[in-house]
Amino acid sequence: NKKGFIFDLDGVIVDTAKYHFLAWQQLAKSLDINFTEEENEQLKGVSRVRSLEKILAWGNKTISQDLFDKLMGDKNEEYLSYIAEMDESEILPDVPRVLNLLEALDQPISLGSASKNARTILERVNLKSNFHAIVDGNDVSKAKPDPEVFLIAADQINIKPEDCIVFEDSVAGVTAANTAHMISIGIGSKDVLGHANYVFNDFTEISDDFIKSLINN
Ligand code: G6P
Ligand code: MG
Repeated sequence: NKKGFIFDLDGVIVDTAKYHFLAWQQLAKSLDINFTEEENEQLKGVSRVRSLEKILAWGNKTISQDLFDKLMGDKNEEYLSYIAEMDESEILPDVPRVLNLLEALDQPISLGSASKNARTILERVNLKSNFHAIVDGNDVSKAKPDPEVFLIAADQINIKPEDCIVFEDSVAGVTAANTAHMISIGIGSKDVLGHANYVFNDFTEISDDFIKSLINN
């Protein structure tokens, strides 16, 4: 029995939200916008372009396209400076256990991330070779909640969408998985991810037996 296991990256495998926050905060400050951690929460799973649009809207600012493009580049440079310092210690608890179990059970594993930095991050934390396919922000034209990223991820491992299981921490990502007719597993709080088929606070709550039951269903 083969199922396709698709992992989001940010907030599922590693906690990069804190680095996005630092980089967005610096950008916001340069525009005299006050950017809060609560607002940063709302940027989870949201593409880079859309994130800046939201920050500008919250701060009631309009800027030229040229400045917009420049700020996008600056933000990513700042973000990459934090990413450069990442190592395996930043992998979230029990993610390696689940990845190793799936590998032992011969299950195809795919990444489905909105980030254009996904490959760099997987390399930093030394998990790139655990994935049979990597689909990220460079490969899609429609951002989550559109299901495109997960449909391509399923296609690349040759598994039908109905036979795929998605691990996601964002509202938009769970919606994308549901729209793709995949089984959605929310990683985070039930209050936020109530629309997922299952919700766990983190991978320490996901047992080997639960993973095996997903494969045999
Ligand atoms: C993930 C993160 C978002 C981020 C997006 C794009 O979905 O949760 O906060 O904006 O990726 O990331 P990038 O690395 O391309 O800026
Ligand atoms: Mg995420």
